[in-house]
Amino acid sequence: MIIKDKTKKVYLETFGCQMNVSDSERIANNLVTNGYEMTLDSDSADVVLLNTCSVREKAEHKLFSRVGHFNNLKNKPKIGVMGCVAQLEGETIFNRSNGVDFVVGTRAIARISDVISKNIVDENLAIDLGEREFDYDWSVNSKQRFSPYIAFVPIIEGCNKFCTYCIVPFSRGRERSLSAEVIVNQVKTLIKEGVKEIHLIGQNVNSYRPLSDVGLEGFAGATKFSKLLRAVAATGMERIKFATSFPRDFHADIIKAIEENKNLCNWVHLPVQSGSNKVLRDMRRGHTVEDYKKRVDIIRSSPRNISLTTDIIVGFPGETDEDFEDTLRLVDYCQYDSAYFFKYSIRKGTISASMVDNVTDDEKTIRFNRLNILHKIHQQKQLQANVNKVLKVLAERPSSKNTNELTGHSTCHKIVNFRGNTSDIGNVFDVKITSEKVNSLYGEKIRNIDNAK
Ligand code: 5AD
Ligand code: SF4
Repeated sequence: MIIKDKTKKVYLETFGCQMNVSDSERIANNLVTNGYEMTLDSDSADVVLLNTCSVREKAEHKLFSRVGHFNNLKNKPKIGVMGCVAQLEGETIFNRSNGVDFVVGTRAIARISDVISKNIVDENLAIDLGEREFDYDWSVNSKQRFSPYIAFVPIIEGCNKFCTYCIVPFSRGRERSLSAEVIVNQVKTLIKEGVKEIHLIGQNVNSYRPLSDVGLEGFAGATKFSKLLRAVAATGMERIKFATSFPRDFHADIIKAIEENKNLCNWVHLPVQSGSNKVLRDMRRGHTVEDYKKRVDIIRSSPRNISLTTDIIVGFPGETDEDFEDTLRLVDYCQYDSAYFFKYSIRKGTISASMVDNVTDDEKTIRFNRLNILHKIHQQKQLQANVNKVLKVLAERPSSKNTNELTGHSTCHKIVNFRGNTSDIGNVFDVKITSEKVNSLYGEKIRNIDNAK
């Protein structure tokens, strides 16, 4: 029996990548459509949902400490674990943590309101991990978007790459691409809804390979992904960003497409993971340092002034001091605009879990810090290079530090703060950059682009 309880307030907390953020938007949409109310006040919620990430052990620990927090509240809410940890660990979550009432995997998010209703009525532990071959819910027409002006558009789900350290192919399953026709129609709808910026998202967007070419006919492109970029650009969406790109599938034509279309933003996120060919081989990344540098040269030589960002793992099994020095050299070569560094974390079930994790935690910390120190110099230089330039910035929200200021991102995905008021939010401005801060830029707005059209 399914009973909708219309009085229940649900608090949803999201961990992990953009796919999880996008899933959370769909979860919230499903709940609101079925009569639930979303709340930002975690401690007064009737139901707490934790949309989890399993990429690193630390993220899993965080989940269990959050469960502990909610379990100890005087009015304990119903606690539901969702996301990648739910999909992978299933029933064992009930044994690992007291207080969890239900578990819903990434393959079953469309049934979340049913699971909650059942759980409220039956008071039973409930679990729904969906079907093995499932249809991912690709919808983006959510009224529950984190921003009315920015929308995530999933174009490819899952991963076939099986990098030896990574749990994603197990938690998210095989790669599936959404048809270009559907994507283009979704983007056209988003334009009508007032969305100014979309992010085409997926574990590896440039491995995009739909079952048919419907929607791509008539568009030039060396790969399906660069064709898709041109097709999406032709919708007239104001700003189009995409992430994450996989180095082996990164074709020069992507940069050509960016150069041909102003609304394709000048930012590429291209995780390299290591600067050592030996480590890259052990990670089974399918590319060498030299392959990667070729792509970087193409990106860096573009007149579009493209920002380049990356992910790097330190302390992969067998990584020697020399391997790490190679990574420092590569980072110095690439001069990243921004970078995310991670200490290697063993994930049960992956190939590298059977390799000896022989870099001590102290050594991982030392390497992490050295990388960070080097990168911060590059990041600051890259930020400083924008001073006196005019960047196009989407005003996203009031700044958390100063009520007279707004914060947003440039097309090259740098955070920019500037003076403005709340009525400016949702508009794109020409902002003249006056100074660089630690992780962001500061400037003065000089023109409202949207009004100038
Ligand atoms: N340990 C540490 N970092 C990892 N990542 C993925 N798996 C692991 C792991 N087992 C990092 C990679 C990836 C990012 C999303 O997370 O750098 O690009
Ligand atoms: Fe994980 Fe590699 Fe797939 Fe990225 S490409 S999600 S690191 S397996």
